[in-house]
Amino acid sequence: MKPTKKMLAVPAVLFALWAANTYAAINDEIAKRLEPVGQVCVQGQPCQGMEVTASATASAARTPDEIIAKHCNACHGTGLLDAPKIGDTAAWKERADHQGGLDGILAKAITGINAMPPKGTCADCSDEDLKAAIQKMSGL
Ligand code: HEC
Repeated sequence: MKPTKKMLAVPAVLFALWAANTYAAINDEIAKRLEPVGQVCVQGQPCQGMEVTASATASAARTPDEIIAKHCNACHGTGLLDAPKIGDTAAWKERADHQGGLDGILAKAITGINAMPPKGTCADCSDEDLKAAIQKMSGL
């Protein structure tokens, strides 16, 4: 071997070792950065990264039950302020009869009526969301 070749071979081996080490270090670093997210989510605690996606999909596809629990139940659960009670179909039907059916009371729910706040405090509920909630509460 010529001296020049030997001189090249040594740095080449050193470089290979360094590269392998660096690669492992980078992998460790990546694993460490991913770790906290994985842990938090696995433990079922609020997962920072996931929260945004979760709430974004939740508002797109809320179930009537979720809307009722969050927005309507406060008054309609107990009949507070004379609100028709959940499950009291007769009370809801009487109102519907006066307002021209389900769409009539839906219209009142959207604008609000007396102590009933507009959209029952669910400002970002669509008309369909409200209608589904009313159907569920009234049984109509
Ligand atoms: C702050 C209390 C309150 C909340 C919250 C509330 N309501 Fe009401 N709601 C009332 C009261 C009180 C009435 C009866 C109003 C009246 O006729 O004087 C009523 C009446 C209604 C009616 C009948 C309207 C009519 O024409 O007779 C509908 C439909 C209705 N609410 C839907 C909802 C829905 C859906 C939600 C949840 C998204 C909701 N409400 C949340 C208090 C509330």
